[in-house]
Amino acid sequence: MAATTIRLSYYLCCLLLIVQVHSVNRDNFKTCDQSGFCKRHRSMQPGNSPYIVLMDSLKISSSQISVQLLNTKTNVRLVLDLYGLQGNTARVKINELEPLKPRYEIPVGDVLIGEPKQQDLKVLDKGAGSITLGLEDNKIVVSYSPFRIDFIAGEEPVVSINAQGLLKFEHFRKKPEAQPEEQAPANPIEGEEKKEEEGEKKEEEKKPDNEEEPGLWEETYKSFHDPKPNGPASVGIDVSFPGFENVYGIPEHAESMALKTTKDTDPYRLFNLDVFEYELYNPMALYGSVPVMWAHNEKSTVGIYWNNAAETWIDIRSTTADKNFFSKIADLVKGNTEMAQMDTHWFSESGVVDIFVMLGPRPKDVFKQYAALTGSTELPPLFAIAYHQCRWNYNDQDDVKNVDANMDSFDIPYDVIWLDIEHTNGKRYFTWDAHKFPSSKDMINGVAVKGRKMVTIVDPHLKRDDNYNVYTDAKNRDMMVKGGGGEEYEGWCWPGSSSWPDFINPEVRNWWASKFQYSEYGGSTPDLYIWNDMNEPSVFNGPEITFHKDVQHYGGTENRDVHNLYGFYVQKATAEGILMRSNNEQRPFVLTRAFFAGSQRFGAVWTGDNMGEWSHLKVSNPMLLTLNLAGITFSGADVGGFFRNPDHELQTRWYQAGSFQPFFRAHAHIDTKRREPFLLPEENMKIVREAIRKRYTYLPFWYTLFYHGFRSGETVMSPLWVTYPEDKSTFEMDDEYLLGSSLLVKPITEQGSVGTSVYFPGKDESYAGSQNTYVNAPLDKIPVFQRGGSIVPRKMRVRRSSSLMASDPFTLIICLDKQGEASGDFFKNNILQSSNADPSGKGSTKEWVEKLIIVGYPKLPQVSISQLMAIHSLYITAMIVTAEC
Ligand code: NOJ
Repeated sequence: MAATTIRLSYYLCCLLLIVQVHSVNRDNFKTCDQSGFCKRHRSMQPGNSPYIVLMDSLKISSSQISVQLLNTKTNVRLVLDLYGLQGNTARVKINELEPLKPRYEIPVGDVLIGEPKQQDLKVLDKGAGSITLGLEDNKIVVSYSPFRIDFIAGEEPVVSINAQGLLKFEHFRKKPEAQPEEQAPANPIEGEEKKEEEGEKKEEEKKPDNEEEPGLWEETYKSFHDPKPNGPASVGIDVSFPGFENVYGIPEHAESMALKTTKDTDPYRLFNLDVFEYELYNPMALYGSVPVMWAHNEKSTVGIYWNNAAETWIDIRSTTADKNFFSKIADLVKGNTEMAQMDTHWFSESGVVDIFVMLGPRPKDVFKQYAALTGSTELPPLFAIAYHQCRWNYNDQDDVKNVDANMDSFDIPYDVIWLDIEHTNGKRYFTWDAHKFPSSKDMINGVAVKGRKMVTIVDPHLKRDDNYNVYTDAKNRDMMVKGGGGEEYEGWCWPGSSSWPDFINPEVRNWWASKFQYSEYGGSTPDLYIWNDMNEPSVFNGPEITFHKDVQHYGGTENRDVHNLYGFYVQKATAEGILMRSNNEQRPFVLTRAFFAGSQRFGAVWTGDNMGEWSHLKVSNPMLLTLNLAGITFSGADVGGFFRNPDHELQTRWYQAGSFQPFFRAHAHIDTKRREPFLLPEENMKIVREAIRKRYTYLPFWYTLFYHGFRSGETVMSPLWVTYPEDKSTFEMDDEYLLGSSLLVKPITEQGSVGTSVYFPGKDESYAGSQNTYVNAPLDKIPVFQRGGSIVPRKMRVRRSSSLMASDPFTLIICLDKQGEASGDFFKNNILQSSNADPSGKGSTKEWVEKLIIVGYPKLPQVSISQLMAIHSLYITAMIVTAEC
């Protein structure tokens, strides 16, 4: 009886939490005005820079200059390090010259894959007011007074740092002494004000710059007090992009791909948060953060990566360039026309200024430059790019069995079936509910015989239960995150009272990885993969539904310094666990909700708790395009929408869109009606089945795209301007996109729509290039077009899962351009050939090409087919077909 009562009250409690967090509540999240450092940086006025370069301190080595910067108002000195890096990249680091203690820097090897390779910087000119350095074909001009840095590619200025003079560096300082108690007046509020004033005055004598501003030594947000033991420590600077009208990147926001000016809104915020029922088209923070931004125009693409894991805000303004200044440093003779410019202003709560400037000059160059820093998307296992069937929750083994059987009987292929939190024993991850899932291995094996996999959810919060061995093990090893007072941090999440392992600590990550060994994770098998959720982390009763900022991590770091990295490390440790359990044989698949720069190396990302509404289907395209631009190419949105009950038309259109997005998973909230595709009315079911089957036919194409992305850092789902960089009309287009450079996709995202206007870029297509064409798209059509001149590999024999198609033959769809030519990965100089892309030579297949479909050619072309390649065993019984465009 007692046990039942406890259980009941526990569930009630969880229910309350669910109800509480499911209502849209902007009040749960700070605005800039409610954040001291955001307010302080935002209130700065351009053109008042107090910083000058102290030339006497200049040190020059082959690929680096180092020089002091003096704040002429406070007399505080900073040190600037400017590095030339290989691949048209530079690094600008600004730190305190003599900090009271070291400021946090992300360990090399975690986000940056290694120490970036340096490249010679040549001193081209050293004048009285500036020094000019040469980096490959670029010039970097460091002006002394006021301090600014300009990057000039050829004769074009492309990036300016501190041109607005917004550099602000809150150096570590000693906390002003508290006033003796007897002086406190009767009215405590007055007392607080007075204390602050006096404290400020004291500091003011020493550093008259920013000590009058509020929130320096403590802040209160709602009922949450942040004691800020280190005081103010924020850093910020402006970065302008002269000559550009568009900037992109800095996910995650539910926003258009081309970022908007923030003149009338808050700045874009990067602070990993669990925002339930998020609103669209605003700069509020979401689950992940990638502080990378690109500027693109007809002539070039450049960008910056802001290497800082603390809470960050970014303001954007559209202005005009200071041509007077540029004519002095860049020999610009441009007449009187104004030059557009995007001004951005970046500020983080702590850490250092560490900016990587990537100078392109083309879109594909910047992706490569960024991948050289943070890595590219690992080639996913084939099953991971097929269709995933998920729901919160599949209730028990029979439920799984039935869904699996129904998918087969309706002839709908799928590769993975997912289990959400209810599969566990009371939200204790790595365990199973013994009643609902008594023989998990049998269940997994049951789907695995058809080449399918399963995924279970493993969240980072651990139920504080002394009978739960994962928790007690972490506790006994002192591996938990600590509260500000040094005690084990406690907060609320799905299991009720919870604690969080300190993933910032490499030893904790190893420990976590070891939990995926088959001997540790009972009931798991090699066909079970992992989903990390709630890893921002989500703390239901924490400030902004996350950790307190003064939570303590490994190495004396506060959560304030590393917040945006917590989820990154959870996924990293999980991916390492999957590698470890198979002696590095098995390619991991881990889905994560929270992420940071570099997360692309560990698996896939999804856009969290969207809604089953048309507007959310529509926003999935810009959100995924932006994630792709930020290197997170393996990304998707919950098909159907997580919350609410989408109608049949919306579900159908969502499946069609999802089938042409990189990560393709249907998912739904526990309170929604069941909506597996076979439950749809027949008409819709058939269309959805066709969309999923189409995805399977294109798997070789997707796999090839991911392979290229892995090698080059290129986007998989790309804005049109990546392939057509000079076509201005594509710069803000985010309702259609390219897969690689071969397929143009324009998903239908409007209710009742039976057609759409498609923009066809380029000149080689059979559709008249560079203009809009209306195309019919009744419910059973997905507007997808293959580019003239491209070759797309497909497999037309769709089976129940991707692995059952492993030995099936390819069909190559060859779409000729107006010159009657096409090229692709298998096809060069009219010769069809194949080679083994696996450098170890291990991977060999029985696949063969059975059909070439040639589109857009009036008569049979001359095609020669090369010798069979020994390793790859490519058999060709080519049937050459011509087809109409
Ligand atoms: C929140 C996730 O975003 C959602 O996908 C999941 O179903 C629930 N947590 C329950 O685990």
